[in-house]
Amino acid sequence: MSPAPDLYAVFGHPIGHSKSPRIHALFAAQTGQMLRYEARDVDLPDFEAAISAFFGPEGGRGVNCTLPLKEAAWRRADELTERARLARAVNTLIRQADGTLQGDNTDGVGLLRDLCDNLAVELLGAAVLVLGAGGAVRGILAPLLERQPAALVIANRTLERAETLARDFADLGPVTAVGFEGLRGRQFDVVLNATAASLSGDLPPLPEDLLRPGACCYDLAYGSEPTPFVRWGREHGARLSVDGLGMLVEQAAEAFELWRGVRPDTRPVIELLSAERGF
Ligand code: ATR
Repeated sequence: MSPAPDLYAVFGHPIGHSKSPRIHALFAAQTGQMLRYEARDVDLPDFEAAISAFFGPEGGRGVNCTLPLKEAAWRRADELTERARLARAVNTLIRQADGTLQGDNTDGVGLLRDLCDNLAVELLGAAVLVLGAGGAVRGILAPLLERQPAALVIANRTLERAETLARDFADLGPVTAVGFEGLRGRQFDVVLNATAASLSGDLPPLPEDLLRPGACCYDLAYGSEPTPFVRWGREHGARLSVDGLGMLVEQAAEAFELWRGVRPDTRPVIELLSAERGF
């Protein structure tokens, strides 16, 4: 009899529509890895018990954490990678040989791989605007600044949260904060939407002339239809306006590699999932 496949899971709430089990099954098939990857509905109050059971009696090897658990996972990890420490959020837990849990965050590198490698968007010397100042933004600022944009502006409904982030990351590059009204008269080459507005079908208030010629719009959220921000970009002359499906696949590939030591090819998976939703 062959041994039981290694067990992995994504924890979150709600979790019903998660594409992660599908993505990891495609990676496993492609790389010949024997593993099982399940979606588990885990809300914040149940997180600790679910982690203990999964990594204890169930013998699980690794967990991805999504909303609303990334901060709880950051607190729970016995050890953090540098990028997870900066992000103050963990999306990947890895059980180490001695049974302790390492927390990592693959969201930032996943975004950069999609934006810069797959979509060939140039950040060096670019004027970059990030919309939002929540947990998702904290996770992407360091890798974005590493690419040396000319300026990185964080715009948020609550100015104070943007100012805190700008202060926290000031050592890493030219980052400043504004409220949405502060965007008037300014233009950008790359605009990233990391607000939760897309999830409720909303759009932050954006000036009509926000985009420079050839600008790119990228929504960290994704859906079965183009998000309001993706539509806004297309209607306002963006060269490229896409959602975060590619980032989702890329952050999963990073986690898969951390767990299995094998890097899957993301392109056929992104192509398949894109073709299935038809845009
Ligand atoms: P996440 O972990 O996804 O970043 P979060 O920490 O709750 O979630 O942050 C949500 C972000 O979306 C915040 O920047 C929030 O703005 P505030 O800081 O002012 O609350 C932003 N956001 C949510 N709904 C929004 C909307 N309808 N319009 C504009 N920004 C919105």
